[in-house]
Amino acid sequence: MEAALASTPGGVNTSLRRISPPLVIVSAQGATITDADGNSYIDYHAAFGPIILGHNFEAVNRRVREVMQRVDLVGVGTTDLEIELARKICQHVPSAEAVLLCNSGSEATYHALRLARAVTGRKKVIKCQGCYHGWHDAVAMNVISSAEKVGQWDPLSRGSLTQVQAETLVCGFNSIEDVKKAVADYPGEIAAIIVEPIAHNIGCVLPKPGFLEYLRRASDSEGIVLIFDEVVTGFRHGLGGYQKICGVTPDLTTLGKAMANGFPMAALCGKHKLMERFNTSPGGDVFFAGTFNGYPVGCAAALATIEVLETGGVYKHIFELGERMRRGLSEITSRSGIPATVAGYGSTFITYFMEGPIESYVDLLRNDQELFTSYRQALMKRGVLKLPLNLKRNHISFSHTNADIDRTLEACEDVLNDLACRGRLVSQSENK
Ligand SMILES: Cc1ncc(COP(=O)(O)O)c(C=O)c1O
Repeated sequence: MEAALASTPGGVNTSLRRISPPLVIVSAQGATITDADGNSYIDYHAAFGPIILGHNFEAVNRRVREVMQRVDLVGVGTTDLEIELARKICQHVPSAEAVLLCNSGSEATYHALRLARAVTGRKKVIKCQGCYHGWHDAVAMNVISSAEKVGQWDPLSRGSLTQVQAETLVCGFNSIEDVKKAVADYPGEIAAIIVEPIAHNIGCVLPKPGFLEYLRRASDSEGIVLIFDEVVTGFRHGLGGYQKICGVTPDLTTLGKAMANGFPMAALCGKHKLMERFNTSPGGDVFFAGTFNGYPVGCAAALATIEVLETGGVYKHIFELGERMRRGLSEITSRSGIPATVAGYGSTFITYFMEGPIESYVDLLRNDQELFTSYRQALMKRGVLKLPLNLKRNHISFSHTNADIDRTLEACEDVLNDLACRGRLVSQSENK
């Protein structure tokens, strides 16, 4: 880490990789990652979500090696791999009539918003407090905000253009009232509503029945482009994304992360009528470009990942392990006497240190942030990696086993007992 610090600001290449204790990873295989000191961890961080099959998954790596023997980046026309991948996405994702490939979720959401502004001729967009859609100015705001900042513009970065951010309206996730008000306050001015169909950047907050349906109806009646940002949910919860599960079809969808099991690959897809405005089509007037878009290694990785997901066993396995983990954690936390709520969907899970119900970001302000982080730091000492940063979700991959879950639950119980014991000692000494 000292060597990293010498040449990289903070020693890491994305801000949320800077954790305490610091980690320098030298290998990753299946459900396990190993650091430079030889410590192994059962990995639930999954690189923020891409690792759905497991690290270094052979079927994906094999396909990548094969394609490397045949073709690398050519950057002209298209390739058989890009055609096949776009077809697969159209086959599975309900909103996908046409697809454009890029390399990160941020690029996909950027293009989605630009397209929405172009087709509507409007400027404003609605996002929800607690949702993250990437690092660009229009959306890099109001994710994990402090209590004082909720209800105000809360940019993630200095240097962002306030003129851009002023066009973004922030509503509460699950708040039909907020969206209704924003739409009523700015009639004919809203280009897009962008939303994570499950608010996964604050752990796992599910949409209340009727919320996504309302967004669909409001978008239809007001001529707004509805964008589901399925960068986390797409492929992780099902081949058709969460839209297939909830039955609400957006106009545009962004995909990334689990799509290629750890190789950089992302997509923007949606209705032909909208997608044809990109200048990849003759006469299109919305700029779309990227030197590495649709690169063969990423396409091969995505195709191999999707083929493994299509074989059926993956979702059954990861959903069952998710259920086993959530059930186990609920039992452990209630035995510990520490106020906690276990949440999650499918292969994702999280323990919030607070009582429920949890329906919005504001509810999560009651989470005991210090306990949340120290619990995870203690788990790292026991060989379990859940990112020790507030509200970050955990992921299970196809390579995790029942034994991994049970070992994890044991470690969680040990740590919680320690913490409960320490808490009791502190309150006893305070009462003396
Ligand atoms: C829902 C969602 N959208 C977009 C992004 C941005 O993706 P990337 O980090 O690949 O740019 C993320 C990243 O965490 C995300 O969670």
